[in-house]
Amino acid sequence: MGNINLKKVSKSFGATTIIPNIDLEIEDGEFVVFVGPSGCGKSTLLRLIAGLEDTTSGTIDIDGRDVTGEAPAKRRLAMVFQSYALYPHMSVYKNIAFPLKMAGDDPAVIDKKVKDAARVLNLTNYLERRPGQLSGGQRQRVAIGRAIVRQPSAFLFDEPLSNLDAALRGTMRLEISELHHQLKTTMIYVTHDQVEAMTMADKIVVLNAGNIEQVGSPMDLYKTPKNLFVAGFIGSPKMNLINGAAAAKHGATTIGVRPEHLAISTTSGEWKAMVGVAEHLGSDTFLHVHADDVGSLTVRADGEIGVRHGETIFLTPSATKIHRFGTDGRAM
Ligand SMILES: Nc1ncnc2c1ncn2[C@@H]1O[C@H](COP(=O)(O)OP(=O)(O)OP(=O)(O)O)[C@@H](O)[C@H]1O
Ligand SMILES: [Mg+2]
Repeated sequence: MGNINLKKVSKSFGATTIIPNIDLEIEDGEFVVFVGPSGCGKSTLLRLIAGLEDTTSGTIDIDGRDVTGEAPAKRRLAMVFQSYALYPHMSVYKNIAFPLKMAGDDPAVIDKKVKDAARVLNLTNYLERRPGQLSGGQRQRVAIGRAIVRQPSAFLFDEPLSNLDAALRGTMRLEISELHHQLKTTMIYVTHDQVEAMTMADKIVVLNAGNIEQVGSPMDLYKTPKNLFVAGFIGSPKMNLINGAAAAKHGATTIGVRPEHLAISTTSGEWKAMVGVAEHLGSDTFLHVHADDVGSLTVRADGEIGVRHGETIFLTPSATKIHRFGTDGRAM
């Protein structure tokens, strides 16, 4: 089981309040992703759940049991960090076995658990190697293996892939998702990466200055952001946020239009725009344009689009995909 319930949790360091007051319920087996700008309190929240920091007020329940004052080791959670901190002089086998050995488990039980974890993580052929003889991705898998053998009620990941290169991140992302399907254990995962958040999460928690702005499935947040913060934070490239007359015409103080929801024409459209930089990615082209009376916009266009710097184009937002926000920044 891995049901985690935070009730009115706050955290201050001295006089500075980092997390004012959070209520959050995480269901058993869920993959929950915490996202938010740097310094918003993602790691602090994870560390509070892990018991590595004490809450200033409020309670944390795991599987219906109040663990607020309990030591990390008693919470049956496993934390995987960005820096995987393996023991360099020990083999992969010994690194994975380490927490079990410390707990005084029977050697036969340890052996089975290590080999099971190695199989799940494709590390069977690397058990005799030392961390220095592994790639970054393999090392991260060893760190995950060390967490798996403890059979925790939940895994807590703090940006586990941010030390890896882009290709390896992609592979590891799939592997962790696959692992979640296999183990069906609750996972809480902190990331800066939009793609990781959107593709891995059952539920995304968007944090801003220690407050929860919105909780929902990735598509909920993409389709119906509650406010300007979430609108601007979820989605890549970012949603275009437009004020002034162009927004008033659509009945809002601010309208949001995602780059993929702007139709391009060379002859006519709602907004006339001058093309600045065109980023050709092959699959897509991101056009950075300046539209008259609207401002700077990003447009996601076809990968093969032929428009060039300095050209004039016309843009029309897809009528059903316009997000409207009031003066308070909330979705209307
Ligand atoms: N031990 C501490 N003492 C004082 N302030 C701290 C301590 N740990 C964290 N903070 C502050 O709390 C705030 C939240 O930090 P936290 O590490 O949770 O942010 P984060 O969302 O994980 O950021 P990042 O994305 O950069 O990792 C920051 O302003 C940080 O400076
Ligand atoms: Mg952090």
